This record gives sequence, C-alpha cells and structure tokens, in this order.
Amino acid sequence: MKSSQNNIGLTRREAIKRTVVFSSGLFLADWLNPLQAKPAVTEFGDKGIHLLAMGDFGSGNANQTAVANQMAAFAKKLNTPLTAVLALGDNFYKKLEADRFDRHFEQMYSKEDLNCPFYACLGNHDYGPKYDSGQGRPKAQMQLDYAKNNPSSRWKMPAKWYAIELPNAENPLVKIIFLDGNMVEGALTPQEKLEQKRWLEAELKKETRAPWRWMISHFPMYSECKARGDSARVAQLWGSHLQANPISLYLSGHDHTLQHLEVEGYHNSFVVCGTGGGSLYEVKPSTRGYAAKIYGFNHFHITPERFEVQLVDTKGTRLHAFRRTLAGKVEVTT
Ligand SMILES: [Fe+2]
Repeated sequence: MKSSQNNIGLTRREAIKRTVVFSSGLFLADWLNPLQAKPAVTEFGDKGIHLLAMGDFGSGNANQTAVANQMAAFAKKLNTPLTAVLALGDNFYKKLEADRFDRHFEQMYSKEDLNCPFYACLGNHDYGPKYDSGQGRPKAQMQLDYAKNNPSSRWKMPAKWYAIELPNAENPLVKIIFLDGNMVEGALTPQEKLEQKRWLEAELKKETRAPWRWMISHFPMYSECKARGDSARVAQLWGSHLQANPISLYLSGHDHTLQHLEVEGYHNSFVVCGTGGGSLYEVKPSTRGYAAKIYGFNHFHITPERFEVQLVDTKGTRLHAFRRTLAGKVEVTT
C-alpha cells in the first residue's frame, strides 16, 4: 500500500476542508437546518451488499428505540436486503437480566426490516464490574451463550474475537476481523490476550478472496471525542497491523459520537459509531474529518470497486458520507 498522503492527496485535503466547514455548523447550531437536511440515500442499484453498524446501544431507553426504528425505516427503503448489522459493543448497559435479550434486542430491532445476522463484539460495559454491571465476566459469557444456545436468533457472537466474510466465504466482498479490546483486569485474562494476539497475527496472513478487509473493535484508536481523544493504548495494540496490512477501515464505538477521520500515517479510514442509545458525548473541532454529537448509525454499501459510508441520524438525515476506492482514494460525498 502507498502512504495515506499519496493515496488520498488533494481529494483528502478537500475532504477535510469540506467536513470541517460542515462540522463547525453542527457545533454552532447543534442541529441541521431542516431545509438543508438531506435524506440518506437508499438507491444504489443492484450491485453490492448493504451493512448497517451501531455501537453503545444497550441502554434500553427511548434513544435506543429511536435509532433502532430509523435503522428499520432505512433498511425498508433499500432496494436490496441487508446482509448484516455490525454491533460495536456496549450491547447491554447495567445488569443483564436474561429477558433483556428479548426486550432490548429481539423486540427492539424490527424482525421484519432488519432480518439479518447482527455480528457483535464486546465493549467495556459488557464485562464490568469496573463499570456498572456488577456481573463481571459472566455478563460477556451470557452474550456468547445466548448466541450459542439460540442459533436461529439474529444475535451472532461466535467468540470474543473472530473473523467473517460477507456476504459468504465462497464469494466474499469484505472480510471483517472483530477484536476484543478489553484489556483491563477482570476482562480478558492474560492467556486470552496472548491467544487473541497470536490469532490476529495468523488471521492477517491468511489469504482472502475479499477485495476489502476491515477491522472492528469497541475502542477507537483515533477520536475527536472531547473527554477522551486518541487512544495510545489502542494504537499500541493494533496500529502497526493497520499500517502493515491492506485494511481499509477501522470501525469502533465507545465514544458516543459519530465520526469519520483520515489520520496521517494510516492508509485506512477511521469511523466511530457510538451513538446507538447511550448518553452522547461532546466532540471537539477536527482537522482530520467529521465528528458530531448526535444519535444515529452507519450504512455501508460495498461493491468490488468501492465502498460508501453514510452517517445517518434518527430522522433519516444523511449527516456525512464518504466513498473509498480500492486504490485508497477517499472522497467526501455529503
Ligand atoms: Fe464503551
């Protein structure tokens, strides 16, 4: 892969200029002028597959419902069915009573319009007890067990770390590596950390027929979240893998914001989607892309030649969008 600067060049600078202008508007107004709001695009022709992503959604409150309802409304308008939803962690805040799988997942996300697998990874609130669950590791295990014991459910979590090829292994368009970034005491054990490290190194060496390779973890590596910002810890864990491999997207949640960043020194795009239901966080002005404090989700349309990403709010507004070619050219399409 070429360097990010060579790959993106003028297009990237233009993209940043445009997104900064757009973001500043949001900081000032904290809301879009309804007259200027553009609905998310749902017409993409017959080619390619569609995915949605959401993170930090497990609040069980009206905000989770609003995002879930708009995801369903959006999916209903697509000309082809969704292939999958990517669930980016913090899947269940607070205590995980068994009936919450039904109330806050099965019933929350329309079976009719979101009738596809939800591939999930684990966030910090999926472990506890440092946070608010009071249940520790069993809370993560309950989610793994629910997937195992309910194979007909849309809830998919085959392991704490795993890889999938979509739409299928025979003719894949994208290979997605899901990672568990919970390194604090009480989450991953020392043995699990070592196992995941070895597994990831082996997985990255494996051949795939998919033109796209993405990496997902709950934790952002780079972020314009005011209270948190960039994570040296996550960059130390996986930054070199992003730089050394043909990975085009690092997708995360955790910071309750919607973001698209292009970061110097990395050829991949960074997207943060932590706005599925938990309380929102403040963002800071960005020179690296788009960041907003607003509930919503991501839509991905993937073809062999390019993928397009839309950041969509609970009213179905296209807040920000970009397109990426196989050669690494990034173009903001908002
Ligand atoms: Fe989190």
